[in-house]
Amino acid sequence: MKINVRGLLAVTALITASTFTLAGNLAPDADIQARIDEANTTAAAFLKQLGGTMKHEMQSGGPVAAMSVCRDAAPKIANDISLKKGWKVTRVGTRVRNPMLGMPDAWEQRVLQSFEKRAAQGEKYSGMTHYEVVEEPAGKSLRYMKAIGTAPQCMVCHGSTAQIAQPVRERLNVMYPHDKAVGYKPGDLRGAVSIKQPLED
Ligand code: HEC
Repeated sequence: MKINVRGLLAVTALITASTFTLAGNLAPDADIQARIDEANTTAAAFLKQLGGTMKHEMQSGGPVAAMSVCRDAAPKIANDISLKKGWKVTRVGTRVRNPMLGMPDAWEQRVLQSFEKRAAQGEKYSGMTHYEVVEEPAGKSLRYMKAIGTAPQCMVCHGSTAQIAQPVRERLNVMYPHDKAVGYKPGDLRGAVSIKQPLED
C-alpha cells in the first residue's frame, strides 16, 4: 500500500487536536494518574532546584555568573532527569533565548497559549499544568507541561533593556545574537517545564 504522508500527518493532527480539546475533562485511569503525579513532583522539584541555585549564584557571583544557572545548570538537570526516568524533560519559552533547547514545538506552543488564556481568566501560573495523551507516528506518549511565570528576580536577564545591566547585555549579545527572551514583566508567562513520557501501545 502506498502511504500518503500528507494524509498521515493530517490524521495525526486530527487525533492530536481531538485529544487536546478533551484533555482535562476525562478522568485519567490509574496508570496515567500515577504518571501525571510523578510529572508534577518532578517538574516542581526541577523548578525548586533551579530557583535555589539561581538565588545562590546571584548572591555569591552576581548576574553575569548566574547566567550559567539558566544556561548550564537548567539543561543539565533536565538531561539528568531525562536519562534517569527515560522521559524527555525540557524547558521551553514563550519567547526564546536559546532556540536549540528552548523552542516549543507545535503542541507546546498551543499549551502555552492556553496557559495565557487561563491566566486571563484569573488562574495563577504557579500550579498551572496541562497533560494529554498524544499519538504520533513514533508512538503514544503522555505529554505534560507546568507553567513558569516570570518573577521579579528574572528581570535582570529577561526584563527590559533598561533593567538588564550593561555587562549582562554584552554577554547576552555575544552568546545569543538572536535572543528573543527579553522584555518580560513580572507575572508574564515565561515558559514551561515540558515532559514527555513514552507509553506502551
Ligand atoms: C543571570 C541571568 C538570568 C536570570 C536571572 C534568569 N535567566 Fe532564564 N535564561 C538565561 C540564559 C542565559 C538563558 C539561555 C539558556 C540556554 O542557553 O539554554 C535562559 C533561558 C531561560 C529559559 C529557557 C527558554 C529560552 O528562552 O531559551 C527559561 C524558561 C528561563 N530562562 C526562565 C527564567 C526564569 C523563570 C527566571 C527567573 C526565576 C530566569 N530565567 C532568570 C539567563 C537568566
